[in-house]
Amino acid sequence: MKTIDDLEAQLGGLAGKRVLVRSDLNVPLDHSGEQPVITDDGRIRASVPTLRRLLDAGARVVVTAHLGRPKGAPEAKYSLAPVHARLAELLDGVDVAFCPVTVGAEATAAVAALGDGQLLLLENIRFNAGETSKDEGERGAFADELAALADAYVSDGFGAVHRKHASVYDVARRLPHAAGGLVATEVEVLRRLTTDPERPYAVVLGGSKVSDKLGVIDNLLGSLLTSGDRLLVGGGMVFTFLAATGREVGKSLLEADHLDRVRGYVQSAQDKGVELVLPTDVVAATAFAADADPQVVSADAIPADRLGLDIGPDSAAAFAAALADARTVFWNGPMGVFEMEPYAGGTRAVAQALVDAKAASGAFSVVGGGDSAAAVRTLGFADEQFGHISTGGGASLEYLEGKQLPGLDVLD
Ligand code: 3PG
Ligand code: MG
Repeated sequence: MKTIDDLEAQLGGLAGKRVLVRSDLNVPLDHSGEQPVITDDGRIRASVPTLRRLLDAGARVVVTAHLGRPKGAPEAKYSLAPVHARLAELLDGVDVAFCPVTVGAEATAAVAALGDGQLLLLENIRFNAGETSKDEGERGAFADELAALADAYVSDGFGAVHRKHASVYDVARRLPHAAGGLVATEVEVLRRLTTDPERPYAVVLGGSKVSDKLGVIDNLLGSLLTSGDRLLVGGGMVFTFLAATGREVGKSLLEADHLDRVRGYVQSAQDKGVELVLPTDVVAATAFAADADPQVVSADAIPADRLGLDIGPDSAAAFAAALADARTVFWNGPMGVFEMEPYAGGTRAVAQALVDAKAASGAFSVVGGGDSAAAVRTLGFADEQFGHISTGGGASLEYLEGKQLPGLDVLD
């Protein structure tokens, strides 16, 4: 992958060059008040160093990004306007403009108005059907319009590199291009997680659906984890594991279609000597609500009228113990419904265990994914307490599944 330094050499300097940067500025927004509020600005902060690098070199920086999943047409609630405000704050001293469209005459004029070292953020790229189109021709035609706005392209939206979208993939084939600093860092971390990691290697998986994690578990048990390593499972997905090992799970989330596959995982972990750590107790409630009488119950005796919403305190202690001497830890997915305090204990304990493993013995700890990253920050942890907090959820998982990521392949 070419770096920005390589691109600078190729172009004979970046001053005065129009550089299109794909960032991932897809941040969670709270729409309950009068104005939308960004609840975790981690992805915006992570995008700043690459933008500064280009601005300092005198480039005219055009940033393109998505927010949410609009269906190819403008929708006010998916506007990048609140992100523009935050980006302008973070890029103190830089002229940061916003263009309410992505391509066409208005965007062309806004780009032409940029001076050296100035930045323009284009409105949500997914307001254009061409961005995500499965039709190569339609996507390519949109990429042509994007490419016409710039002299070069920098791919820095790591969280979207698993998408074969115009601004991620096709535009790189049309312009001199490079990987931004964030993409380079994320890829280096993933290489370290997949190439000769220090062991014991512990992977913690959570989140609601086991169906989202099948690919990664296949690859973990197929090749990445070996004897003495650990796989810890919590979150909504764990109830399919509990059911697969013969427990009644009451009204908890259950993906019955995957029971056989999960039984296979339990067997292959055993065959390989990978320790599979499942909760022995859970916090179960009568409904999906903070005040639905949460109680700690044994994982062997979840009452029929209750659903599990977090791992219990004994499990949290066991998970922490299984992480204490790990040399490499990857974590994706909350252990429970951490947004509600009665169900935040498991996620908090796992975050603390990652922090302790790094502090005590220098373990390499990686938090993967939008939800998990937001969770650790919401619970009051600092980014520096972890080896790395990834900006990519789906992208990190697909890399760990061993898949080819279109947005990375196109840069090679
Ligand atoms: C994410 O939030 O995982 C990335 O921004 C990609 O978004 P997407 O899943 O809507 O493509
Ligand atoms: Mg997502």
